Amino acid sequence: MLQLAPTTLLFTSHFLMQNSVVTGTSAGSACIDPAYFPDEIDAIRREFLQQRRQNNFLLFTHGDFDHVLGLGRDVDAITVIQQQALALDHEQIAAECRQYDAAAYLTREPPFTFPRIERTFISRLDLSAEGIPLLLVHTPGHTADSAVILHLEQGWAHVGDMLSDIEFPIVRDSFRSYRSSLELLPSLFREYGTVSVIPGHGHLAADRAEAERRRARDLRYLDNVEHRLRDLVPAGADLRRCLSRMKDIRVGGEPIPPYLREFHEGNVALIYYELLTGPK
Ligand SMILES: [Fe+2]
Ligand SMILES: [Fe+2]
Repeated sequence: MLQLAPTTLLFTSHFLMQNSVVTGTSAGSACIDPAYFPDEIDAIRREFLQQRRQNNFLLFTHGDFDHVLGLGRDVDAITVIQQQALALDHEQIAAECRQYDAAAYLTREPPFTFPRIERTFISRLDLSAEGIPLLLVHTPGHTADSAVILHLEQGWAHVGDMLSDIEFPIVRDSFRSYRSSLELLPSLFREYGTVSVIPGHGHLAADRAEAERRRARDLRYLDNVEHRLRDLVPAGADLRRCLSRMKDIRVGGEPIPPYLREFHEGNVALIYYELLTGPK
């Protein structure tokens, strides 16, 4: 656990280095993406209950199962997620969570169900009027519902599944959207005084230079994949051939580790079809 500010704690799970935040003010509290193991969620829940005041929020950066586990029963908080999350297959997300838990022989009580969402937003949502200086901004690309959450006074932002030091871009929605979202981040960070960046998975980027280093690395990776595909696709290469020509792509100068290769191949396939058919 890391104290980011007097009333803000960062919790990092032993599962996929998931990052959860609890932050409070005299008006209320907010918890972002509580995860993952039951004892870890209990610790986050205790902190959240301690900071609870009048206006309390449970915020999700996106609807992937590892980000929407919630805080268990009887937690009185307004749940918020970007509107596109309503269109997700919530039963399939629950099945994915059950599969991961079963593989780890893990019993989750109460069992996972996709949270009941009380508030959504389309482009931006500012909670300042309710005493919580947090701004949620839609940044699609990883998923259609992805958002970043910026603290407007403490200089940090939770960016969901972007800018990780242990992952590269995992593009499941749209390559073009992912790029646009990466391109939006510097102006957001400047405008709202963001210094440190919390990725959904991995280590805190403690300053803007480190966040920028990760952003530039991720843009380079996407550029490399796109440029190679722009040569291959018009020449009539099918997806199999494209995949075979992408094996040596590096991220930040390093080869892609075996456990992330399936995500790289998923990216190649998505960008391949996006180049063939145009963006969604
Ligand atoms: Fe995700
Ligand atoms: Fe994630």
